[in-house]
Formats: sequence, C-alpha cells, structure tokens
Amino acid sequence: MEFNELVLKRQSCRNFDGRPVEKEVLQKVIEVARLTPSACNSQPWFFTVVTEPDKVKEIASATRVFGANRHCEKAGAFIVLEERLATLKEGVSKVVGSQHFAQIDMGIAAAHIILSAMNEGLSTCMIGLFDKDAVKKTLNLDKKAELKLVIAVGYASEDDAIRQKVRKSPDAIAKFI
Ligand SMILES: Cc1cc2nc3c(=O)[nH]c(=O)nc-3n(C[C@H](O)[C@H](O)[C@H](O)COP(=O)(O)O)c2cc1C
Repeated sequence: MEFNELVLKRQSCRNFDGRPVEKEVLQKVIEVARLTPSACNSQPWFFTVVTEPDKVKEIASATRVFGANRHCEKAGAFIVLEERLATLKEGVSKVVGSQHFAQIDMGIAAAHIILSAMNEGLSTCMIGLFDKDAVKKTLNLDKKAELKLVIAVGYASEDDAIRQKVRKSPDAIAKFI
C-alpha cells in the first residue's frame, strides 16, 4: 500500500475479529520499531509482545478501565511499550535531564508500530487507559517499570468500515511562511 493510503486507511480498530496474530508478522513489526529514530539514538524503550492466549486475555482485562476498551477483548495480541533509561549524550543530558525526550521517542516508536502493523494487514488501537499494575503483574515486570502505552493488535472484522477522518483543518494546524 502506498504511504498516504496507509495513513488514510489506518484507524483505531474497535472491531477486531478475535483471530490470533502470527508471531512472524509481529517480528516484522518489531523490526520496524527497532529502526525508529530517537534523541541521541538512545532508544529508550522495551517492547513486550504478548501472544500467549491466557496473557492476551489478562492484558485485555487490564485495559478495561472505567468501563472503557471492551474492544480489546477481541484483539489477537498486545504490544506493551515501556520507557527505559535514555542515555543521551552527556552534555545534552546535563542540560535537559536523561528522560527529557523519552516520551517523544516513545510516541515515534508507537507511530512506527501502528503503521508497520497496518502495512502487514493488521489493525491496531493504541490504549493509553489501562491498569498499569495489572499489566506489570501479568508480564512479571518490575514495579517501577515505566509503562507508557499498550497497543492492541489484531485483524479487523470484515464489516469494519473505514471511517471518515475527523481532524482540525489544515490552517488550524500549520502555516507556511
Ligand atoms: C496516546 C493515545 C492513547 C489512546 N488511548 C485510547 C484508549 O485507551 N482507548 C481507545 O479506544 N482509543 C485510544 N486511543 C485512540 C484515539 O482515540 C484515536 O487515535 C483518535 O480518536 C483518532 O482516531 P483514529 O486513530 O481512528 O484515527 C489513544 C490514542 C493515543 C495516541
């Protein structure tokens, strides 16, 4: 698929069909994530790819915060994004602190992941609202782990129509001078 078409057709999937996702496909997605650029090339991330059915169920439950995210119950896999210590160049770190760019880096990685998944015929939904302690327990992560985002991955149901994009106007978000 051509890049602009990929961007137009990418949407948060809230209608997965429940099929599991093949590990080989997710490996390709993670390879793209690995190539994501980051400040000082510090790559301050760790991705946990969850495909084991019982764990997938547990992560889906952990996303059910305030009644939200029921659609995760039919996701085939999850990718959990953890922020790790960024090793910026010493001078940069001294001025802004080691984690100053890390959240931006994580966002760029997330964008690479969702577009790569789409390119592989998968659908995704980024999940910011989730029970971090429950996810840490399921994945046996350190209590101090900095979980930033869960990405639900799966196959969209056949009847999952492409929605019209609702976005601010070009003028409201950019100017050319
Ligand atoms: C950081 C972040 C957190 C999000 N958290 C959730 C979430 O918890 N549940 C959900 O259904 N969608 C979540 N979304 C998806 C957004 O609602 C969605 O991207 C936005 O409404 C634009 O729609 P689109 O992705 O279909 O283009 C999140 C998106 C981002 C970037």
